Amino acid sequence: MQYTTASTAVLSQPPEFLSTIRHLDKQLHDRFRNRFDIDPTLSRFLVSFQGNKTRPSYRWYKFKEAFSASLVEHLFHKYGINAGRILDPFAGSGTALFAASAMGIDADGIELLPIGREIIAAKQILDAEFTPEDFERLCQWSTLRVWKESQISVPLPELRITQGAYPEKTKKAIEKYIGAYQVENSRVQSILRFALLCVLESISFTRKDGQYLRWDYRSGRTQGKKIFDKGEILEFDQAICEKINEILEDVSPNHQTTLFAAEKLQAQIRLFEGSCLQILPQLPDSTYDAILTSPPYCNRYDYTRTYALELALLGTDEQKLLRFRQEMLSCTVENRPKDLLDINPQWATALAAADEEELLQAILKYLEDQKAQRALNNNGIPRIMKGYFYEMACVIAECARVLKPNALLFMVNDNVRYAGASVSVDMILSDIAEKLGFYVERILVLPNGKGNSSQQMGEYGREALRKGIYIWRKL
Ligand SMILES: C[S@@+](CC[C@H](N)C(=O)[O-])C[C@H]1O[C@@H](n2cnc3c(N)ncnc32)[C@H](O)[C@@H]1O
Repeated sequence: MQYTTASTAVLSQPPEFLSTIRHLDKQLHDRFRNRFDIDPTLSRFLVSFQGNKTRPSYRWYKFKEAFSASLVEHLFHKYGINAGRILDPFAGSGTALFAASAMGIDADGIELLPIGREIIAAKQILDAEFTPEDFERLCQWSTLRVWKESQISVPLPELRITQGAYPEKTKKAIEKYIGAYQVENSRVQSILRFALLCVLESISFTRKDGQYLRWDYRSGRTQGKKIFDKGEILEFDQAICEKINEILEDVSPNHQTTLFAAEKLQAQIRLFEGSCLQILPQLPDSTYDAILTSPPYCNRYDYTRTYALELALLGTDEQKLLRFRQEMLSCTVENRPKDLLDINPQWATALAAADEEELLQAILKYLEDQKAQRALNNNGIPRIMKGYFYEMACVIAECARVLKPNALLFMVNDNVRYAGASVSVDMILSDIAEKLGFYVERILVLPNGKGNSSQQMGEYGREALRKGIYIWRKL
């Protein structure tokens, strides 16, 4: 299977900017030619959350942007990482941390959003703190449906973008459920709240859909928009009981001991809460034996919108939501530029590495030109691109600093396309990494590149976009 270098696809007379991009892309491709590897063992199943769907404990919360635990095991086995301490600066639901820990490797993670942090905390509680009495109590919650008799209802916290997200009956049931768990001990409360987080989407009128939450026509919120039918909306009682039972099945000492043993944590997990741009500079030099991470992709996906139901439940108010949106790695059109040198004056070298990356600069010029010609569907696009790569340059510089000499960094990421220009995220970041203390060992490419939005394909023709895993060695 061939993958393509950046092209101008079906544009008949490529503007000068696009041919410059194509030329620079080819140059970089020639430089990395013998490092690219189309790896047939890397299926989409392995690299995405699909591989976690049936796996005990990883299956509870469907964190769609996760990679699979099997991918972590595959890479660590293949590259001989079997001891020490690893880091994931974009930890999400903690897949890298839990898979590493089960292999006996200590793991540190950094995560900005409370949803990822809550998933990680719940799994740690179940693994290390839950008592036989707690398991018994959790069983009772599902068999007796404790909330049904509750006299206490706690109003469901909402954000503007989550109002009307549940059928009225479901909302009332959730409020009774929250009211009822207030009287449990803190461990049981955490797991009951976690179970609720796991089912929120399935009992709501919404579906997580890339850049935003999509609303089912039954919500009454879709006036004037295209009709969307998400299919079955689950009843609260059934959904929550099934989820509690699934958790019990995977972890209770009275159930499935062999499965539990297989996923049991062997080594320490530490989670740092906040933005990795703030936290990485505080970590000591030469600490980690490997880094395995998947940052947000440069694709306008807005985690603060798609996870709004969960964030609201976890107490995020409007102001915090806006703050999270700005603190995220820039990948949505709403991100304002961050003052990176103000965060860390040591990042001048990282910013210079991005300034010198010719392909990136050519793409930025092209997008600015398109903006001036009013040809972009959103004028924030050049700002996303710049923010994304400059912030990633700082993250890469920090990763180089905190890794031990010779240690490996693995990064899962996708290439993207904007306004007809393919953006070779893999080669741009790899080029920056080579300026910041890494050697690019391999860029593993999934056998099937994926297309882009239907709108883009209509305008510019279909072109495979590489999805890959970059493997960089700290010099
Ligand atoms: C692709 S997901 C990672 C998924 C993870 N590999 C897993 O298996 O669950 C990217 C994560 O980066 C987080 N993130 C975005 N910006 C961040 C920042 N500045 N600091 C820390 N985490 C951030 C997002 O909230 C999201 O959870």
